[in-house]
Amino acid sequence: MSGQFSGILKGNLPPTDKFLYMESYGCQMNFSDSEIVASVMADLGYGVTEELEQADVVMINTCSIRENAEQKVRARLQHFRAMKRHKPTMIIGVLGCMAERLKNKLLEQEQLVDLVVGPDAYKDLPGLLEQVQGGQQAVNVLLSREETYAEIAPVRLGSNGVTAFVTIMRGCDNMCSFCVVPFTRGRERSRDPHSIYQECRELWAQGYKEVTLLGQNVDSYRWQAPAGETKGEESPTFLFADLLAYIASISPDLRVRFSTSHPKDITDEVLHTMARHDNLCKNIHLPVQSGSSKVLTRMNRTYDRPWYLERVEAIRRILPDCAITTDIIVGFCGETEEDHRETLSLMKLVRFDSAYMFAYSERPGTLAARKYPDDVPEEIKKRRLAEVMALQDQHSVERNQEEECKVHSVLIEGKSKRSDQDWCGRNSRNKMVVFPGKDVELARDFIGAKDLSPGSYVDVTVHRSTKATLMGQVVEFDAVQA
Ligand code: SAH
Ligand code: SF4
Ligand code: F3S
Repeated sequence: MSGQFSGILKGNLPPTDKFLYMESYGCQMNFSDSEIVASVMADLGYGVTEELEQADVVMINTCSIRENAEQKVRARLQHFRAMKRHKPTMIIGVLGCMAERLKNKLLEQEQLVDLVVGPDAYKDLPGLLEQVQGGQQAVNVLLSREETYAEIAPVRLGSNGVTAFVTIMRGCDNMCSFCVVPFTRGRERSRDPHSIYQECRELWAQGYKEVTLLGQNVDSYRWQAPAGETKGEESPTFLFADLLAYIASISPDLRVRFSTSHPKDITDEVLHTMARHDNLCKNIHLPVQSGSSKVLTRMNRTYDRPWYLERVEAIRRILPDCAITTDIIVGFCGETEEDHRETLSLMKLVRFDSAYMFAYSERPGTLAARKYPDDVPEEIKKRRLAEVMALQDQHSVERNQEEECKVHSVLIEGKSKRSDQDWCGRNSRNKMVVFPGKDVELARDFIGAKDLSPGSYVDVTVHRSTKATLMGQVVEFDAVQA
């Protein structure tokens, strides 16, 4: 899954006199894990603070996906180390993928780290903290084949009260040769569908209107009740399409999204299920990585260019209105100019709605690091990345222009980041739509329109767009003006 971002988590916990400060880096799954950690820490009496100075415990939930992700974390650790000189009682913990990758090395190298906890060990935090408070350093980086944190109710951090992430599986059993995730997150395991349903229902009851189901490869979601629960008979297998239909049934007004789909695993059954339910949002994140079959083989992606294009064709056939987004790596080991041109040509065939694009960064211990030299020079990686980005910009602009002059059902998330005169929300295709707040007021006054506030749906006619945003007006207000 992609959507790499970093941020400080804003707290919404009751007042307390012990404070946790958390920063999260990497993918949405890491942010979702931070909400599990906040929940475990809340049980220990810790509130969440946004002020580093106020913190008794500082935790940094880390990402190892590319070298620069780790560099960012190292810089933050230096900063925390400087703070700790003034406040020696402050506990510093490293969580997540970098903790898992570097293990004890973090304690040895970053002298003032007290705590190192891998992604499957968060339930052990109470014991580990006790150990640290007793004057020792503490580490737990054991990976598990079962842990899904199914029974922990996450504390929603930095939430807009409208959209939430729900983890449905952990780990990854694919062995893409460039990728560190199987090493940092361990074996793939799916979470009990009933606990997923329960969590989503509770979110719905609390007023949330959109859930995003998260996993590294959601299409390989697979659940079979453990033996013993079904009195002798083999229980039926519950697959991703079943899970989508199950969660969609909570309410037609609950939007359901998911990420990330894998081209080798996404089935027509999933696409047909999406077609049957309006509230299954019409956006598929389908990372292609490269347009060259030769490169895809070396990447160990287990599909080739024709296979990927066939899957795109199936999406277009079954879900003609569906946006497709992707991830692309340039400059992977042995990538020639011709391979690169194949990536550009595949982009032109698909015309992705948007993409995350990266220069290959060798990760220690991965298959590629052991097997293939990282032989594309930095300047060439940079140039290829710029070409891929420029082409994607053009496609994003065109795709967004296609959204103009149409009416979009927008789930209002809140005020626009750019101006508090404007409101924003997303359409089903996950595109941000901005519209003037005065429309909302006027629509309310003139037509007695339904409650237009965060969490409500509004129809917006899109008049203009940029590569990242659609801009429009509330339909009722368009009508009033006419
Ligand atoms: N599970 C998702 C990917 C998760 S990582 C999937 O299979 O698509 C998010 C993205 O980071 C990947 O899709 C890939 O494009 C990029 N990425 C992963 N490892 C990388 C590396 N070593 N160098 C550069 N980009 C990388
Ligand atoms: Fe990494 Fe591949 Fe798993 Fe995605 S599917 S997390 S890229 S190994
Ligand atoms: Fe996510 Fe980064 Fe780990 S992308 S799974 S936090 S290596």
